Amino acid sequence: MLLENDIILIGPMGSGKSTVAHALARLLAATPVDLDAVIEKEAGKTISAIFEAEGEAGFRLREHQALQATLGQGRVVATGGGVVLDPRNRMLLRRAQTCIWLDAPTDVLAARLQSEAMKRPLLANENIEAKLIALDRIRRPLYEETAHIRIDTQAAAPDQIAVKIEAALLERT
Ligand code: S3P
Repeated sequence: MLLENDIILIGPMGSGKSTVAHALARLLAATPVDLDAVIEKEAGKTISAIFEAEGEAGFRLREHQALQATLGQGRVVATGGGVVLDPRNRMLLRRAQTCIWLDAPTDVLAARLQSEAMKRPLLANENIEAKLIALDRIRRPLYEETAHIRIDTQAAAPDQIAVKIEAALLERT
C-alpha cells in the first residue's frame, strides 16, 4: 500500500534505521526502501567500493541524487547516517512528511557496530566509539533541525520502536 506521505528514518550508524524501516512498513502495510541499497544498485558497486573509487564526496553526490529520486512515492525510507550533512538533503527531508530521528547514545551504537564496522568505510580502521563521538558532535544538531519526531531507540527491539513511531505519528495527526 502507498502511504499518503513518505516516512523517512534518519539517525546515526547503528541506530537500526533499515531494520526498523522493515518493521514499520510491515506494521503500516507499506513498502520499505533503503537509500544505501538504492545507491549500490545505481552504482553497481558496494558503498565501500564507492568510497574507495570516488571518495566520500563522490558518495555524497550519489546519496543526494538517490534521495531526490526516492522521495515522494509514499514509502518508508531508511537513509544513511550522513544524509543530513548536505543542506539540500536537509531541506528535502524537512519538507517531506514525516522525518523521524532514531537516537541512541554512542556507547550503545558502538556496541552494536563492533562486528559490522568493515561494511562502513567511515568506521574501518578507526576506534569505533571515538569516531562515533566525533560524528555525533557534528551531526546531532543536524538531526535535531531536520527531524519532525525524535525516538529513543535504547533498549527497545525494532518491532517496539515501530510501534512507538506509529503512536508518535498518530499523535501528530
Ligand atoms: C554513513 C552511513 C552508512 C552509509 C555510509 C556513510 C555515514 O549508512 O550511508 O557508509 O556517513 O554515517 P548507515 O547509517 O545505514 O550505516
